[in-house]
Amino acid sequence: MQYENQDVTRIYAGSDHAGFALRARLVAHLRGRGIEVKELGAPTAESSDYPDWAAAVGRAVREQAGSFGLLVCGTGLGVCIAANKVHGVRAVDVWNLEGARQSRGHNDANVLCLGAKLVAEADAIAIVDVWLETPFEGGRHARRVAQIAAIEAQEK
Ligand code: RB5
Repeated sequence: MQYENQDVTRIYAGSDHAGFALRARLVAHLRGRGIEVKELGAPTAESSDYPDWAAAVGRAVREQAGSFGLLVCGTGLGVCIAANKVHGVRAVDVWNLEGARQSRGHNDANVLCLGAKLVAEADAIAIVDVWLETPFEGGRHARRVAQIAAIEAQEK
């Protein structure tokens, strides 16, 4: 079973130690739905620095059109800030289902960040599913996403 409204070619997943257990749970859920998931670290639950994994996932998403990223740390905030430093990444830290819907529908987010200390496992699974089910709406939102890309280009 894939997602009904959206073609999900591949997910790149990463986390630090604080997100390790939730990442494992989410990866198992995605694979159970027939999604190809490539894990880019951390390889163990030992303490590690989240920017490393955020950069790896962000760069992988940038390199493969149509792919998405999933990042988990304690709050989702650190990985989100770090991933957004990679050009072409639109990472969002999502806390509820409406955030999942709007970040895909309006912002064309391509990396989903979650906080393992702040979001319950069942809620995180529901957020992942809604996020991956929701296609970008385009239209006026495409103009705004293009404006974000223009800011990025100016900052090179
Ligand atoms: C690690 O202690 C914690 O700072 C990290 O997982 C994350 O929450 C950072 O934003």
